[in-house]
Amino acid sequence: MFKNVIVRKPARSMVKGITTANLGKPDYKKALKQHAEYVKALKQCGVNVTLLEEDERYPDSCFVEDTALLTDKCAIITNLGAKSRKGEQIEIQKVLKNFYENIEVIQPPGTIEGGDIMMVGDHFYIGLSDRTNKNGANQMIKFLEKYGYTGSVVALNEVLHLKTGLSYLENNNLLVSGEFIDKEVFKDFNKIEISKEESYAANCIWVNDNVIIPKGFKKAKDAIVKKGYKVIEVDVSEFRKLDGGLSCLSLRF
Ligand code: GLY
Repeated sequence: MFKNVIVRKPARSMVKGITTANLGKPDYKKALKQHAEYVKALKQCGVNVTLLEEDERYPDSCFVEDTALLTDKCAIITNLGAKSRKGEQIEIQKVLKNFYENIEVIQPPGTIEGGDIMMVGDHFYIGLSDRTNKNGANQMIKFLEKYGYTGSVVALNEVLHLKTGLSYLENNNLLVSGEFIDKEVFKDFNKIEISKEESYAANCIWVNDNVIIPKGFKKAKDAIVKKGYKVIEVDVSEFRKLDGGLSCLSLRF
């Protein structure tokens, strides 16, 4: 179960955020409204939400998930792979001092972003992407092992981050799309397949037996409801324009 969530209010500069989406510039006012709805949905799941002030220096800073990996025993601060995002993690480290005694820090030349890390119990799958290199993944695995966890790497080719195409919903249930559908390493999960047209909905978040999903993906919603989850839909269209999804917008621990 998660007790805490950290989110950061989107900055006006988000209109200059990194993107490959080709969906136009985000509407800032709409993004703020959607972000508030996201926070409301999290609160409905029974977590305490820490809302950080916007940070105009970093257009992508609302995507806090990439800055750290948070476990029951330690926080591991990442070293972001995207140039314009380097430094975001320093701000998060200051905040995490209020929650954690054990804080580890990934060092260059290792790079790793939280969107590339999927927690399944005590095991952590780490996607090797344009943002996460082998050195970063190896450092992460060493830190995880220090605290009794395990980690392994997964190659990826089509998506930005590992969790762009995968979400773990607990109870061995895994949402999968695209290149992950037939990946050997995920063969023993109960896979919930997300179709190509709805691939954006492969990024959902499990929060205390609720699943928060992006609004407007009926087939994905029906499949998740059928598995017995309570589903909360949130419109995150303005974050999608920056390649961002539901998981990217929070740190859950
Ligand atoms: N726009 C979010 C990211 O590329 O990291």
